[in-house]
Amino acid sequence: MSIKIISTEDGSNSLRQIQLNETYHSVHGAVQESLHVFIRNGLAFVSESVAETSILEVGFGTGLNALLTVQYARQQGKKVKYTAIEPRPISEDVWSKLNYPVLLSEGKAYRFLHLSHWGIAVPLNSGFELLKLRMTLQDVPLEPGGFDLVYYDAFAPSKQPELWDIEVLRKVVAALKCGGLFVTYCAKGQLKRDLRNLGMIVETLAGPPGKKEMVRACKA
Ligand SMILES: C[S@@+](CC[C@H](N)C(=O)[O-])C[C@H]1O[C@@H](n2cnc3c(N)ncnc32)[C@H](O)[C@@H]1O
Repeated sequence: MSIKIISTEDGSNSLRQIQLNETYHSVHGAVQESLHVFIRNGLAFVSESVAETSILEVGFGTGLNALLTVQYARQQGKKVKYTAIEPRPISEDVWSKLNYPVLLSEGKAYRFLHLSHWGIAVPLNSGFELLKLRMTLQDVPLEPGGFDLVYYDAFAPSKQPELWDIEVLRKVVAALKCGGLFVTYCAKGQLKRDLRNLGMIVETLAGPPGKKEMVRACKA
């Protein structure tokens, strides 16, 4: 897998996957996009009544979503159990060069996210526990009704259509609790129709800078 580090418009890095010719984040701003889609329109919308938020991330990648989650959870006094799926982890040579720990002043947490072992749940602190699974979404066994929130951060449907197939989405929806949320940067009509057919209540929200729309769906 060949990968190039790039700079996005908000000054934060991202990666370009050369074979797919696809970036890991919006070129208009990686941190800006992750904060908007996953934190402000995802994590911030989980009900106050949830004592410990169980999050599933599809595509751990650079660890940016996880890092912003650690930071937000600490600031808000939320407890998080974070499960991240990633079949092709990036190498230390790549993650150690990304500027997220400096931009976000989160060096210790960033190293923890990347250096912690795969396949076992490890606590970062009393409010954040991480389980990284080195598998594809298609192969990973997911506990039905196990998650409050899904960060769906796969590569775009035009680049990796198999991850947007309704049968794969069915598995993800089954893994949500009732009232659980699914958030993604993608706002394609087919995705919204498929989520509705799977019993989700779908909202189209304003996207981050440079992208018109995003999707949040709630399991009825
Ligand atoms: C858009 S990038 C994710 C960005 C990541 N959330 C971040 O903050 O850096 C998509 C990720 O999905 C991963 N991926 C590719 N195929 C996958 C699969 N079948 N199941 C789960 N993840 C997959 C890629 O390796 C890549 O890390």
